[in-house]
Amino acid sequence: MERTFLAIKPDGVQRGLAGEIIRRFETKGFTLVGLKFLKPSRELAEQHYAVHRQRPFFAGLVEFITSGPVVAMVWEGDGVIAAARKMIGATNPLTAEPGTIRGDLGINIGRNIIHGSDAPETAKNEISLWFKEEELVSWQPHLTPWLH
Ligand code: TYD
Repeated sequence: MERTFLAIKPDGVQRGLAGEIIRRFETKGFTLVGLKFLKPSRELAEQHYAVHRQRPFFAGLVEFITSGPVVAMVWEGDGVIAAARKMIGATNPLTAEPGTIRGDLGINIGRNIIHGSDAPETAKNEISLWFKEEELVSWQPHLTPWLH
């Protein structure tokens, strides 16, 4: 079953949006298989955003992501990687479609509330960067018969 890594960034946590965001993935029908609340170390943040190391916004991005606690999560379900990206919306909240998390809840590209893995390979790498295997729970929710 496909899995993705999602993280509610410090702005999302501080604005009290964690419950609203988790609710969207729950009600969509995806399954939560990993969850932790932590203030990321600089090393973790730099590894997570390693692909952006040369970009002008890198230092500020690492500063921001290490500035407070984040909600790190692994979600599971058919097509969850692409679907979560769609639910999150475009990188810039100002141009993100209404109905998406960023489109509904944000205005600033540097404070865009949530991270989501962009492809199967990055999902795999990000899950193993943020979680140990034993921190992930394989379980079957009691589904209504018609969800799948
Ligand atoms: P990116 O991976 O391009 O976006 P996404 O989070 O939608 O996958 O960029 C990572 C983060 O870097 C992005 O969420 C916010 C920040 N960022 C900026 O602050 N300024 C920028 O111009 C870009 C492109 C990203």
